[in-house]
Amino acid sequence: MYSVKKINEDLYWVGVNDRKISLFENVYPVERGMSYNSYLLLDEKTALFDTVDSVASLQFLENVDCVLGGKDLDYLIVNHMEPDHCANIEAIVAKYPQVKIVGNFKTFTMMSQFFHFDVDSRKVVVKDGDTLSLGKHILTFVMAPMVHWPEVMVTYDTVDKVLFSADAFGSFGAMSGNIFADECDFQNKWIDDARRYYTNIVGKYGVQVTNLLKKASSLEISKICPLHGPVWREDLGYILDKYTKWASYTPEEKGVLIVYGSVHGHTENAAEILAGLIGDRGVKDIEVLNASNTHYSKIISECFKRSHIVFACATYNMSLFPPMQTALHELSEHNLQNRSFAFVENGTWTPASAKLMSEILEKLKNNKVIEPKVTVKSALNEESYAGLVTLADAIAADLKK
Ligand code: FEO
Repeated sequence: MYSVKKINEDLYWVGVNDRKISLFENVYPVERGMSYNSYLLLDEKTALFDTVDSVASLQFLENVDCVLGGKDLDYLIVNHMEPDHCANIEAIVAKYPQVKIVGNFKTFTMMSQFFHFDVDSRKVVVKDGDTLSLGKHILTFVMAPMVHWPEVMVTYDTVDKVLFSADAFGSFGAMSGNIFADECDFQNKWIDDARRYYTNIVGKYGVQVTNLLKKASSLEISKICPLHGPVWREDLGYILDKYTKWASYTPEEKGVLIVYGSVHGHTENAAEILAGLIGDRGVKDIEVLNASNTHYSKIISECFKRSHIVFACATYNMSLFPPMQTALHELSEHNLQNRSFAFVENGTWTPASAKLMSEILEKLKNNKVIEPKVTVKSALNEESYAGLVTLADAIAADLKK
């Protein structure tokens, strides 16, 4: 049976939810599952916007079939060629052999790499700003390279002012009965997954996302239809403001994140004490994360959220404790900027982790380091405790600037 949702008079969500998945892209934990969104527009000509992951092909094809109600499918618009959205292109072609596929030059290069059916006879190649009339609706194609892959484009329905935004404005999480952000308590139940999705999937490409936001700012938008997560039809300013901050690497909050990597608990002890000392100085927004049991994707997301980040880590085999090393490596791959960093290191014979952590983060732009770097030798003593007090003073003072 079908499972579809009406968005506008002639626009339907025909996507699917996946609650069996545990790791999106085989790496990101998704405790709330995933949605793969696809949209079908019924006009004189019918148009399907992207397909879904192979995990739910049957449900998807039933949804499309139901909404078409016996009509032909005229166009498949391919905004993104990553397999979580393109996996069913060949199935759509097999079921609707007359369908034309709309994409850009790069779309079709990738399509011929992923698939071996006859793409050329059905392809419609579009460039930035090209339009396609479906009858009442006129679609405009806007190139959005590297949001998230090079071929990405978004499609704008100039009549109903709907933006089909590809991965942009997406989120981890399956949808439960409602598809609109205003129906599902987005600000409480979804924002953390939306931030973790953005920062990990496209966080590296802030410049490209900013370019897309600039293009979008010239459009009147009534709805945003992303490829994952809820559809936006109200309070678009809320999510646009989040995206503007994330894409420009601007902290959402003046607050402190302490991430620690601790082998036997002494570095953890230093992290907890530092958190308490910062709290004693009137700072309310403090988060402490154990790198050993916090997936790096959450650490990246929390780093994008807050302005001040303390890394506390044990020296391990003359290197960094591995969970922290992974987190820092991934962070350095995601271009985090405009932050204040501080470091606490531990080591029983040659503490080296502050230097090693600094070296990884040095390649990121526009960050500063708050001194002192605190060295713990095995366990806190009066001297290293005093260092934590001085660091807490410095962080609290910097937050007030
Ligand atoms: Fe949801 Fe970049 O694919």
